[in-house]
Amino acid sequence: MENSLSSHRVVLLLLFSLVLFLNTELSFIASARATDNNSKVYIVYLGEREHDDPELVTASHHEMLESLHESKEDAHNSMIYSYKHGFSGFAALLTSSQAKKISEHPSVIHVIPNRILKLKTTRTWDLLGLSQVPTSFSSSSPVKGLLSDTNMGSEAIIGLLDTGIWPESEVFNDQGFGPIPKRWRGKCKSGKDFNATIHCNKKLIGAKYYLKGMMAELGNLSYIIKNDFKSNRDAEGHGTHTATIAAGSFVSNASFYGLALGTVRGGAPRARVASYKVCWIIVGCSSADMWKAYDDAIHDGVDVLSVSIGGRVPEGSEVDQLVYVAAFHAVAKGIPVVAAAGNDGPGAQRVVNVAPWFLTVAATTLDRSFPTKITLGNNQTFYAESLYTGPDITTGLVFLEPGSDYTTDVKGKTVLCFDKPVLKEGEAAVILAQNVPDEIYPYIFTSYEHGADILQYILTTRSPTVRISAATTLTGPPAAAKVAVFSSRGPNSVSPAILKPDIAAPGVKILAALSPYDPHEHKGFGLLSGTSMSTPAVSGIVALLKCLHPDWSPAAIRSALVTTAWRTSKSGEPILAEGSNNKIADPFDYGGGLVNPEKASDPGLVYDMEIKDYISYMCSAGYNDTSISRVLGKKTICPSPEASILDINLPSITIPNLDQEVTLTRTVTNVGPNYSVYKAVIEPPLGISLSVYPSTLVFGSGEVHSFVVTVKTSHKVNTGYFFGSLTWTDGVHDVRIPVSVQTTIMTKT
Ligand SMILES: *[C@@H]1O[C@H](CO)[C@@H](O)[C@H](O)[C@H]1NC(C)=O
Ligand SMILES: *[C@@H]1O[C@H](CO)[C@@H](O)[C@H](O)[C@H]1NC(C)=O
Ligand SMILES: *[C@@H]1O[C@H](CO)[C@@H](O)[C@H](O)[C@H]1NC(C)=O
Ligand SMILES: *[C@@H]1O[C@H](CO)[C@@H](O)[C@H](O)[C@H]1NC(C)=O
Ligand SMILES: *[C@@H]1O[C@H](CO)[C@@H](O)[C@H](O)[C@H]1NC(C)=O
Ligand SMILES: *[C@@H]1O[C@H](CO)[C@@H](O)[C@H](O)[C@H]1NC(C)=O
Ligand SMILES: *[C@@H]1O[C@H](CO)[C@@H](O)[C@H](O)[C@H]1NC(C)=O
Repeated sequence: MENSLSSHRVVLLLLFSLVLFLNTELSFIASARATDNNSKVYIVYLGEREHDDPELVTASHHEMLESLHESKEDAHNSMIYSYKHGFSGFAALLTSSQAKKISEHPSVIHVIPNRILKLKTTRTWDLLGLSQVPTSFSSSSPVKGLLSDTNMGSEAIIGLLDTGIWPESEVFNDQGFGPIPKRWRGKCKSGKDFNATIHCNKKLIGAKYYLKGMMAELGNLSYIIKNDFKSNRDAEGHGTHTATIAAGSFVSNASFYGLALGTVRGGAPRARVASYKVCWIIVGCSSADMWKAYDDAIHDGVDVLSVSIGGRVPEGSEVDQLVYVAAFHAVAKGIPVVAAAGNDGPGAQRVVNVAPWFLTVAATTLDRSFPTKITLGNNQTFYAESLYTGPDITTGLVFLEPGSDYTTDVKGKTVLCFDKPVLKEGEAAVILAQNVPDEIYPYIFTSYEHGADILQYILTTRSPTVRISAATTLTGPPAAAKVAVFSSRGPNSVSPAILKPDIAAPGVKILAALSPYDPHEHKGFGLLSGTSMSTPAVSGIVALLKCLHPDWSPAAIRSALVTTAWRTSKSGEPILAEGSNNKIADPFDYGGGLVNPEKASDPGLVYDMEIKDYISYMCSAGYNDTSISRVLGKKTICPSPEASILDINLPSITIPNLDQEVTLTRTVTNVGPNYSVYKAVIEPPLGISLSVYPSTLVFGSGEVHSFVVTVKTSHKVNTGYFFGSLTWTDGVHDVRIPVSVQTTIMTKT
C-alpha cells in the first residue's frame, strides 16, 4: 500500500505546476487582448445614489457613457455593471483617454482601475495539519449561552464573497429550519450544474455569480469554462469551506482520514447562507465583480458580509483604499464587513483590508497538536507534527544539505532537511527541522534541536533508518493557541494610527466541508489554513451578536469583540505569536486578542462610531468636501482645523509618532446595566505616561460619555512601538483597549 504522505505530495506538486503554467497563459491572454483592444476595465464611482429607483440610476450611467461613445450601442456594450442598489457607479471597458475624460465629469468621484484580488488561504500543510472546528465552538465552550440565546443565529443571513458553494455538502442541510426571514430580497440563480430549485433551500438562500468583470479584463477564458462552473457551484473548495466555518449545519462524525473526528458546525449553525461567487479558479477575484456583489448584498438584506479576499501588500496609498469604498457603503447601512488580514506574516506592516470600516481578522493556531512518533534505528524517539495517517513505515534515512539540489539518491527514503527542499517524487517522507513552523509544505515538522540529534545519528551510523508512526490528536495543554506565523501583522502601512488587525480567531488546520474538486478533500471534508478561515469564524460570531443586539452598529460590534478578547490561555499564560522567536503577542499581531464570543455579548461599554469618524478618516485620506459629500449622499465638509485621526472613536489607541505629548478623545456608550460606575485602569507602555480625564464615569441607561487621554513620552530617543492598555472597569465588565505608542522626536532646526 502506498503511504498517503507521498501520494499527497504528488497531488500538491501537480497543483503547483498547474498554477505556474496557467499564470503564464493568463499573462499571454491579457497582453494579447491589450494589443487588439486598448480598453481596460474601470470602476467609475459616483457615491450615494441620486434616485431611489434603481432603473433611473442605471439610466444615468448609460447617459454618462453615451457622452464618450459615437453610438448609443457602443456605449451600452462598454458597460459591464451598473451599481445601483447600495451606491451608484458602474464598471465599463474604457480606453485610458476615455477613463481620463469621464474622470472630469462633475458627478464622478473617482475612476478606479479594476484590480485582481486573491483568496487568503495558505493551502497546504493543512494536508498534514489537523484539527477540529475552533475550540471556542466545542460543546463545552462558552459560546453555548450566546448560541442558545440567539437560537443559533436562525434569523441571521451571512453573505460571503468567495468561490461559491458545493450545495450537496451535508453542512448546508436545512433540517429543522424555519421559514426564510421575510426581509430577504435576494435569490438563487441557476447556471452550470446548479439548479436553483433543487440546490437552494432554507439554509442556502442566496447563490449568485459574477464573472463579467474578470472576462472583460482577461477575455473569454476557456480555462474557466473548462475548469470552473459558470454558476455558484464551487470548483475550488474555498467558498464551501468558509461558509461551513461561518454557518455550517451540524454534521457529526466528520474527520480527515479519521483524524480530528467530531461534529463540524459553523459559528452560527442555524444562520442562512447567501453565497456571492466572485472568485474563479486560479485567476482570482476582480474588484468590478466584487463591487457588484456588494451592491447586490446590500439590496438583498444580508446581516453580515464575510470577505476572505485581499489585495497585494503593501496596499499602496490611502487613495488606493478607494477600492474598498463599496464595503464602506455596506457598513454605513449597518452591515458589518469582516475581512481577512492576509497571510504575509510574520514581517511587520503586511496587513491588508486596513480601512477603518473593516473588521480585520488575524489567525491563530488551535490549542491542539498532532504528534507523530519518529523512531530512529537506534531506538531514539522524537515527536514531530504531521498529518500522516497511514500504517507505520520504516525507511532509510538521508540528510539533504541546505541548498543541495537532490543529487543524493532519495528514492524510498526519508529525507532530513533544515530548510525547504525542492520536492521530488520518490522520497518516502521529508522531515523538516526548523523552529519557524511553516504552513506551506506537507512535511513532518520537528524542532531544529531534534533535527540536530537526528543528523548526529545519520552521520554516525552506517545504514540509518527511521520508523514513522501515524499522527494522533492531542487537545489542550501543552498546546496553546498562538498567532499563526503566516498571519499578516501590523502596523497598518496605509494609516498607521488605525490599529490593524482588529481581532484574531482560529485559522490553522480547520476541518470544514470542501468541494470534491479540491485536492485536499476526503469524504466531503478537509483541513485548510489561513486568515480566510479565521475570517468566517468571526462572521459567524458577528451574526450571533446581531441576533442578540439588532440595534448595534458594525462599530459597536467591533468594539464588543476587541474590548473583551482573550490575551491569555485558559491556564492564564499569555498568548504567544509564532515567528522567529515566539514572543508574547502584541496588538499588531492580534488587535484586541483572541475573540471571546460569550464575553462580547455583554461588553458593558462600547466605542461606537458615527459617520463623523469615517469623515475624519476620509478627510485625512485626501478626499475633498465635494467627494465626501457625494460618497455620503449629503453635503459634508471636512472639519477645519483638520480633525485629528487620533480622535477617530476606535476601540484602540495607536500613536505612530509621539513627540513629547498629545491629547485625544474617546466616547463610550453604556450597553450594560442601567446604572454603573466605571473607573479607568491604566497599564502604560514602557516610558509612556497616560492620564485619563475624568477617571471615573457614571452611566445611566444607554448613556454616552466622553473622556480625554493625555499621552506623554519620557523617551529622549526614537523608539519602536511599546504596548499597554486602558481599561474601564465596573467590577463586572473590563472594557479594555490596546494602546500602542512609538516615540519619534522631531529634529529641531
Ligand atoms: C473593444 O472592446 C469593446 C467593448 O467591449 C468592443 O465593443 C470592441 O468590439 C472591442 N474591439 C476590438 C477590436 O476587439
Ligand atoms: C430544476 O429542477 C426542477 C425541479 O426538479 C425542474 O423542474 C427543472 O426543470 C430544473 N431546471 C433545469 C434548468 O434543469
Ligand atoms: C466563450 O467561449 C466558449 C467556448 O470556448 C463559448 O461557448 C462562449 O460562447 C464564449 N463566450 C463569449 C461571451 O464569447
Ligand atoms: C463514524 O465514522 C466511522 C468511520 O468513518 C464509522 O466507523 C462509524 O460507524 C461512524 N459512527 C457514526 C455514529 O456514524
Ligand atoms: C530497539 O528495540 C527493539 C525492541 O524493543 C529491540 O529488539 C532492538 O534490539 C533495539 N535496538 C537497539 C539498537 O537498541
Ligand atoms: C475634489 O476632488 C475632485 C476629484 O478628486 C476634483 O475633481 C475636484 O476639483 C475637487 N474639488 C475641490 C473643491 O477641490
Ligand atoms: C432602568 O431605569 C429605568 C428608569 O429608572 C427603569 O424604568 C427601568 O426599569 C430600568 N431598567 C432596568 C433593566 O433595570
